[in-house]
Amino acid sequence: MQKLEVFGAKKLRGQIKISGSKNASLPILASTILSNKKIFLYNLPKVKDIETMLILLESLGSKIKKKKDKIIIDNSKQKKTFASYSLVKTMRAGILVLGPLLAKFGKAKVSSPGGCSIGVRPIDIHLKALSKLGAKFKMSEGYVIASAPKGLKGSKIHFPKISVGATENLIIASCFAKGTTTLSNCAIEPEIEDLVKFLKSMGCNIKWIAKRKLKIIGIKDVKESKYSVMFDRIEAGTYLIAAAITQGNIKIYNIVPKIIKTEIDILRKIGATIKVKKNLVHIIGSKKIIKANIKTAPYPGFPTDLQAQMMVLLCKANKKSLIIEDIFENRFMHAAELNRMGAKIFIKGNKAIVNGNIDFAPAELMATDLRASVSLILAALCAKGRSIINRIYHLDRGYESIEKKLEKVGAKIRRLN
Ligand code: EPZ
Repeated sequence: MQKLEVFGAKKLRGQIKISGSKNASLPILASTILSNKKIFLYNLPKVKDIETMLILLESLGSKIKKKKDKIIIDNSKQKKTFASYSLVKTMRAGILVLGPLLAKFGKAKVSSPGGCSIGVRPIDIHLKALSKLGAKFKMSEGYVIASAPKGLKGSKIHFPKISVGATENLIIASCFAKGTTTLSNCAIEPEIEDLVKFLKSMGCNIKWIAKRKLKIIGIKDVKESKYSVMFDRIEAGTYLIAAAITQGNIKIYNIVPKIIKTEIDILRKIGATIKVKKNLVHIIGSKKIIKANIKTAPYPGFPTDLQAQMMVLLCKANKKSLIIEDIFENRFMHAAELNRMGAKIFIKGNKAIVNGNIDFAPAELMATDLRASVSLILAALCAKGRSIINRIYHLDRGYESIEKKLEKVGAKIRRLN
C-alpha cells in the first residue's frame, strides 16, 4: 500500500496548474452513453475515478481511445446495460450511468452505490424523480433493476432536496424523454453547468428558465461533439488553502476565478492577500490567520468538499472557529487524525469547534476519504518534521499528481511504496 512522506514547515512558492474537474468529467462521461457519434473530450484529469468511469463505459461496450491531450469515445457499438458492483463500489458516481442507460435503452441494471465514510449516500431522490419520467425500479441483490419499456416521457419534477447527482441523472435522462421536462430545485454547481454545456454541444435542448429550474425538450439523437471540461474548483481551493496555511506565495492558473468567489472572499476575510487576474489567482498567505465561522451549503455556498481543508487552516487561526457541516452526516473523520497532530477540535453532531493557535506535530496518519486525506497533507505541510500518510489511494481518486504539484512549489513530499 503506497504512502506519502512529508517534511513540513516549508513556505510554498511558485505556480500551480489546475487540472480538469473530476466532478464535471464524471457526469459528462456518463452522458456520452446517449451518443452513437464520436465524442472528443479534453482536459479530463488523470485521476483514479476517471480511469474507473472509463473502465465502466468500456464494460458497457464503449470504444475508448486515449490520446495525449484528449480521449475519443465511440458508443456506436455500446449495447450492454449492466454496471457491475465491482466498479460502482469503488466509485459511487457509477450511479450516473442509470439515467443515460434508461434514456437510450429503456432498461438498466446498476449496482446501488452504497454508502461511504462520509455518509449513507442514498439514491432515493434519483429513483423517485426518474420514476416521474416513467421508469420502474426494483432492488435485487444490491442492484437497481430499472425499466422503461415505453421509453421515458417528459414530466414536471421538483427535487425535494438539492442533490448534485440526482440533478445530473435527471438532466441526462430528460434529454431523450418524449416531450418536455421541467426540473425545479436543481443543484447549480458549476459542474452541472458544464454538463449542460456539453449536452448542448451534442445538440440537446436544455434551458435554464429560473435560478434552479431547467426546461428540457426531448430529442431523438445527438451529434458529434468536441468538448473541454472545466477546471477543478476543489483542487484550486485546496491549493489556495495550502498557500494560506504555509504563509506561502502561490499563483494558481488555468481557472475561472469568478467560480471560486466564495472561497476567495473567505480566504481574504481570514487574512490572505489575493489578487485575481483573468485565468489566474495570486495568493500570499499572512502570518496572522483570523478565525472564521463556516457553514457548508450547496453552490454558491461554501463547498462541503473544502470543509476538511478549511478546518486545518482554522486550527492556525488566532481564535476559536465554528464549522457546521450541513451536507453530509459524517464528514468530520479527519478531525480525529488532526487531533493526533495536536489539534483541539471538538465535534458535536454536525458542528465542529476548532481551537486556534495550534502547532501541528508530525505523525503517522491514516486517510479515510478523498478530501480528508488532502487535509492531512495540509497539516503535515506545516508540522515541523516527518509525517507519513497511509491509504493514499483515497487521494489518488481525485487529485492529479498532487505530490509533484506540491514539490514544484517547494514542499518536501514524496511517495513511498
Ligand atoms: C456530489 O456528490 C459530489 N460528487 C460530492 O463530491 C460532493 O460532496 C456533493 O455532490 C455535494 O456537493 C460528485 O460530483 C461525483 P448530493 P452527490 O446528491 O451527488 C443527500 C468529492 O469529494 N441525498 O448533492 O452524491 C446526500 O446524502 C465528492 O468529490 C439524498 O438524501 O451529492 C447528501 O446528504 C464527495 N438522496 C445530500 O443529499 C439522494 O437521492 C447532498 O448529496 C441523493 C442525495
